[in-house]
Amino acid sequence: MKNLGTWKIGLNFHYVAGFFLIALVSAALFLTAENGGTLQAQDSQKRQQTARNEERKEEIRLYNEGTDSVGRCNLFSGRWVYDNLSYPLYKEANCSFMLDDYACERYGRKDLKYQNWRWQPHHCDLPRFNGTALLEKIRGKKLVFVGDSLNRNQWASMLCLIESSIHQSSPKLVNRDGNMFIFQATDYNATIGFYWSPFLVESNSDDPYRHHVKDRMIRITAIEKHARHWTDADILIFDSFMWWLEPTMTVLWGSFDSPDAIYKRVEMRLRVFEMALNTWSEWLEININRTKTKLFFRSISPYHYYGENWETPQNCYNETEPIMKETYWGIGTDRDMMRITKSTIQRLETRGLRVEYLNVTNLSDYRKDGHPSIYRKFHQHLSPEQLADPKSYSDCVHWCLPGVPDTWNHILYSYIINSS
Ligand SMILES: *[C@@H]1O[C@H](CO)[C@@H](O)[C@H](O)[C@H]1NC(C)=O
Ligand SMILES: *[C@@H]1O[C@H](CO)[C@@H](O)[C@H](O)[C@H]1NC(C)=O
Ligand SMILES: *[C@@H]1O[C@H](CO)[C@@H](O)[C@H](O)[C@H]1NC(C)=O
Ligand SMILES: *[C@@H]1O[C@H](CO)[C@@H](O)[C@H](O)[C@H]1NC(C)=O
Ligand SMILES: *[C@@H]1O[C@H](CO)[C@@H](O)[C@H](O)[C@H]1NC(C)=O
Ligand SMILES: *[C@@H]1O[C@H](CO)[C@@H](O)[C@H](O)[C@H]1NC(C)=O
Ligand SMILES: *[C@@H]1O[C@H](CO)[C@@H](O)[C@H](O)[C@H]1NC(C)=O
Ligand SMILES: *[C@@H]1O[C@H](CO)[C@@H](O)[C@H](O)[C@H]1NC(C)=O
Repeated sequence: MKNLGTWKIGLNFHYVAGFFLIALVSAALFLTAENGGTLQAQDSQKRQQTARNEERKEEIRLYNEGTDSVGRCNLFSGRWVYDNLSYPLYKEANCSFMLDDYACERYGRKDLKYQNWRWQPHHCDLPRFNGTALLEKIRGKKLVFVGDSLNRNQWASMLCLIESSIHQSSPKLVNRDGNMFIFQATDYNATIGFYWSPFLVESNSDDPYRHHVKDRMIRITAIEKHARHWTDADILIFDSFMWWLEPTMTVLWGSFDSPDAIYKRVEMRLRVFEMALNTWSEWLEININRTKTKLFFRSISPYHYYGENWETPQNCYNETEPIMKETYWGIGTDRDMMRITKSTIQRLETRGLRVEYLNVTNLSDYRKDGHPSIYRKFHQHLSPEQLADPKSYSDCVHWCLPGVPDTWNHILYSYIINSS
């Protein structure tokens, strides 16, 4: 693997995030459980139930029509079918962009069926993935994934998917420029990048390597420091979810080093998330060239730490099959956050800026089998107690490659290929 040298410096941040998130998710869920009995919780449960009923009605309507809001086939409503003839779309060992975090086969996973599932939309077929056609489409252009480690997962998947279509003589290197990780397909003069900013707005976790901080601080109205690195891209894919699950965080108005800065510790996670998305959308509204740049927001990537909703009461460890019950309703997501994202995007649309919402939460939720669990590199020390109980350190957040993010990209591909 030619590019290992470049990778080595670049690869340590991901697992830190991953591991940190495991603790964080457990903490968040624990807190939720503790508050379960209060009136407030019941009240919010009722509201959630009403909202969910509304959502379901809308779903059923769209489901029956089989289309999305602008009349195209709804690619997000469908089912997983086992198809070992066409999937996987590449071999793990053949991908020079593979990261230790997703290389489940290399790290000892023996059941490999997770690589063979194809997403079949109910009312149409996904176009066949053609890396050459994609590269032709983005010739001379810049495509950037912006967000957290799940977007990094999707970016790595994209590079694996197109690699067999790249025949360049120059080495296939990933270079880093600050928070931007860049692959250049030189024959096509095309750039496929990943930009690390887990909250989208500025925070004290913006170092791609050292973001394991105790007290998380978010500069809720500041995004320019990041955005100026990606505003000129032709295609942008955003995501942000996991890092918002912390029960409390510090919000900062003003800059990190200003003496007048106002710090405020807040527990209103949803409100803070909404404010950050407002900052993000205002930036887009003012700075994005509408004739040039296509915008996507990938919805929540669900985690699988709790098994109450499927048959076995445990996490993703030792799970080898997807959930086949179509009406399964996942719990590893936050419907309120999805609603906030959706309404932010709808507001932007009324102002003439279209952001495609890649609604992959539902389809990914069925894939409890798709996570690395213990089959990845763990860089931190694992204690004998942990090793004796593999569930305790399983990664049920990220995804093995080949795997679920290939489907996200396959859907993204269909949008890009069909765009003008
Ligand atoms: C996402 O897709 C699922 C499955 O089709 C659907 O039930 C849900 O309503 C969609 N959510 C949004 C916000 O579009
Ligand atoms: C594909 O799966 C079928 C049914 O499980 C099996 O009989 C066949 O050997 C598999 N083919 C390959 C190429 O793995
Ligand atoms: C993987 O690489 C090998 C050796 O370079 C090649 O023969 C094979 O066709 C590749 N397989 C896939 C699925 O790309
Ligand atoms: C893939 O796309 C390229 C460029 O558009 C085209 O020449 C080629 O025939 C396509 N391959 C397949 C298998 O469809
Ligand atoms: C490569 O693409 C960039 C835009 O991404 C453009 O500015 C530059 O002129 C292109 N170079 C060539 C040699 O086509
Ligand atoms: C927006 O992008 C289009 C297409 O790339 C370009 O022709 C135009 O000059 C750009 N407009 C501005 C204001 O930069
Ligand atoms: C893993 O799953 C298999 C088959 O479902 C079961 O027999 C085995 O006991 C499980 N192992 C652990 C450690 O849970
Ligand atoms: C996915 O959407 C379908 C159709 O709206 C719904 O019946 C199912 O419960 C959803 N599943 C998940 C995991 O969100």
